[in-house]
Amino acid sequence: MHGLGDVRFFDRLAPLYDLAMPPADGEALAAGLDHATRPIERLIDVGGGSGRAAAALSGPDICVVDASREMLVRARGRRGLSAAVGDAGRLPVRDASVDAVTVVDAFHHLPDHNAALREAARVLAPGGVVVIREFDPTHPLGRWLVAAEHAIGMASRFRAPGDLAADLSDAGFDPRIVDRGFGFTVAGVKREP
Ligand SMILES: C[S@@+](CC[C@H](N)C(=O)[O-])C[C@H]1O[C@@H](n2cnc3c(N)ncnc32)[C@H](O)[C@@H]1O
Repeated sequence: MHGLGDVRFFDRLAPLYDLAMPPADGEALAAGLDHATRPIERLIDVGGGSGRAAAALSGPDICVVDASREMLVRARGRRGLSAAVGDAGRLPVRDASVDAVTVVDAFHHLPDHNAALREAARVLAPGGVVVIREFDPTHPLGRWLVAAEHAIGMASRFRAPGDLAADLSDAGFDPRIVDRGFGFTVAGVKREP
């Protein structure tokens, strides 16, 4: 499994994580999910941690996938969510078996962005959508966040909205920038084969 550096951080942070974090922006996620061209019945939340983002969604069957066992203890125990241990670069999910993938405040922690996008494309059925919520490193608050995460030893690598949209296009998605700001949302609809 890749990226154990940041995952170990989250194993240690897990007991405090939900106390420190505001609720996830369910409206932004829903706006991204609206771009799917197929009904969303099955969704996986990759790097979903304690289930904070999954808790802001309603409708589909959701499975939280994360490399931190300690974060998943919270997703299962506190939130009663279905959860699986897994690396974003090697998802424990069958080909074309889900309608949506969300990645919330987690993409910048993943050690291999291309592998994560490739895996999202593999597990999504055509017309399904990947929705990524991230922080813009070119925004003044984003510059501060980049410095703060590096100062505490995280291996974070942030992408600006346009760059992430281009990465999605290269990985086989039709990308849309859903909203911009310090936090932004990009959606990618999986192209038909
Ligand atoms: C900032 S937390 C975000 C958690 C959740 N998505 C949320 O919005 O609250 C980042 C998460 O990414 C997970 N993560 C880091 N590297 C990973 C990897 N290679 N595969 C899967 N999850 C990973 C961490 O364990 C952590 O739970």
